[in-house]
This record gives sequence, structure tokens and C-alpha cells, in this order.
Amino acid sequence: MASRGAVGIISTGRALPVGRVSNSDLEEIVETSDQWIKTRTGIEERRIISNDETCSGLAVAAAEKALERAALKPEEVDLLIVATVTPDQPLPSASCLVQARLNTINAAAFDLAAGCTGFLYGMNVAEQFIKNGTLKNALVIGVDTLSPIVDWQDRNTCVLFGDGAGAVVLAPVEDGRGLLASKMFSDGHKAELLYVPGGGSRFPAAQWTIKERLHYIKMNGPEIFKFAVTVLVDSTRHVLEMCNKTPGDLDFLLPHQANIRIINFAARRLGLKREQVLVNILRYGNTSSASIPILLDEAVEQGKFNEGDLLALVSFGAGLTWGASVLKW
Ligand code: UT7
Repeated sequence: MASRGAVGIISTGRALPVGRVSNSDLEEIVETSDQWIKTRTGIEERRIISNDETCSGLAVAAAEKALERAALKPEEVDLLIVATVTPDQPLPSASCLVQARLNTINAAAFDLAAGCTGFLYGMNVAEQFIKNGTLKNALVIGVDTLSPIVDWQDRNTCVLFGDGAGAVVLAPVEDGRGLLASKMFSDGHKAELLYVPGGGSRFPAAQWTIKERLHYIKMNGPEIFKFAVTVLVDSTRHVLEMCNKTPGDLDFLLPHQANIRIINFAARRLGLKREQVLVNILRYGNTSSASIPILLDEAVEQGKFNEGDLLALVSFGAGLTWGASVLKW
């Protein structure tokens, strides 16, 4: 049984589809321009799954890397959480499909739907089981393949999103390290700022729902923008206060990659230098719940973090949901 105490990330992994869609590719599909997309969002290209790739497949590929780096055998995994809003199919959960392919035969497996905040929600949930000694470890995967549910006729949304997966293994770490504070928030009153009305049990697939394009993402971009700049700053401050820290103590901020203008605004308000704020939106767009674990895995691979560095991870998304974590590397 794991000891009660600190819980941290002991390994990371990521997987991205091979297919790239550039801004100029999008100019062929909707009335937009490379210039508009770059200046308004910071995105230059995104990765999009092909017909042979799936949400669960990307999740498996990211998880395999994280397990290998943690030197953890599949049968040793106690808990598998897949944070996603784009499971391969309604039933069973994506996590059960992933569990079968990884052969994590002793793991409890469930999906967690909290939009782009799903990965941070997943880490927070998994941490509780390890901290209280019920489980020894957890594999948390953030994965989304939004491209099949994006309306490729809607320039307000189709230029923003990309597909991808990131994974971490959580396990006990020495006291004073790992996750120092986390907080999850939600406000369902704002559900209709970012939603997919069709394809669920209320409006199941029917000819009329397809005709009305109800199976595609609908989004009020400017309202989410206003919300995002506030909650990124406030929730980062909130979790820092929870562990008696200030933005000045931070070494790195890992913000959800939704829009470079949102990220820059938050960084300025928190008084952070450009090099302290990790960014990869130009290459992947907004990969929803995969955005933070992909960012994390790239940073680990680049050797960005030193032992003892203080990181803040912060996200927002459909729900609306938002949240943040502070982590001592
Ligand atoms: O994970 C959470 C997911 N969602 C978000 O994070 C979304 C947050 N919001 C945003 O990132 C921004 O609001 C957007 C990038 C979506 C839009 O940028 P904006 O600066 O808020 O633009 P806007 O929606 O106010 O639109 C300004 C103009 C409009 O034209 P008019 O009415 O001024 O003539 C839009 O029709 O830009 C037009 N526009 C575009 N033009 C070229 C909107 N999308 C495009 C486009 N290409 N792709």
C-alpha cells in the first residue's frame, strides 16, 4: 500500500497524428487567411487524424511512452483515467478500449469529461486515491480528436483545433515535491458558450439533426476569450495562495494552448517573463485536454525543468470548467 503523502508526475508521454493541416490548407476550405489565423490565434498548423487513427489509438501511444519511462508494467497500473470529450464511440468508455490495448488488466478505468480542463481534473482525481493510500499509481491521459466534430464550414472554430494525446504516470514522491495544490472549478450556466448539441441522448443521430449540423462544435469565441483571460490569472493565483506561494515564485507556467493572445495576456498579468511561459500552440493548435500533457512532455524531453522548479498548470474549457495545479518538479 502506498504511503500517505506527496504525489507527483514520475513520467510523461505524447502522441500526435502524422497529418498536418497548415493555415494555407484552410484558406482552400473556408474564407480565412494565414495572416488572420496567425495574428488572432498564434496557430500556424495543427495535426489531424486520418481515417486509420483514433482517439483511443493516440491515447495508447502516449500512454505506452509514459509507462516505459516510468518502468511500469501494464499489470502494475492501478488506475487509468482518460480525460476526453471525443471517445471513439458512446459505449464503452474510451478508457476501457485503452485498457484492453495496453493490457492494464488490474486497473480501474473510466473517462472524465471536463472539456479542455479534463487532464487537470483527471490528475486531481487520481491524486486523491494515491494520497489516501488506496492506490499506488495512476495513468492519466488527456486526449482529444476534435477534428471529426469540428464544422469544417465554420471558420470561427475549424481553424482553432487539432488532435493529440498526452499522458502522465502519477505515483508517490518524496515529501515537499509533486503536486502542492490543485483546484477545480465549473459553471454550467455557461454551457452554451461551447457545446455540441446533437449526438447525445437528447438529440440522437437522425436525418434532421445531421441536416441542422447539430453534431458539430458551436462556440461563442469572444465570450470564452473574456472568460479565459480572467480565470487563467485568477485560478493560477488561487492555487499559488493555497500553498503560500506567489507568481514571483514560479519558474514555469504551462497554460492551456487555446489562443496566444489569451496566454500572453495571462502571462503579463502574472508578471512572468516570456521564457517562463511554455507555448506550442503554433504547431498543434488547441488540442483540448491533450494540450497541457503534450506541453509537459515536450518540456521534459527538452530538459527544461530542474529538480525543485515550481510549475503552475492552468486550463479552461467547455462546461464551462477551469482549474489549476501547482507542482514542484
Ligand atoms: O479551449 C477553449 C476553446 N475556445 C477558445 O479558447 C476560444 C477563445 N476565443 C478566441 O480564441 C477568439 O475569440 C477567436 C480566435 C475564436 C476569434 O477571435 P476574435 O478576435 O475574438 O474575433 P471575433 O470572433 O470577434 O471576430 C472578428 C472578425 C469577425 O468579422 P467581422 O464581423 O468583424 O467582419 C469574424 O467573422 O473576424 C472574423 N473571423 C475570421 N476571419 C478570418 C472569425 N474567424 C475568422 C477566421 N478567418 N478564421
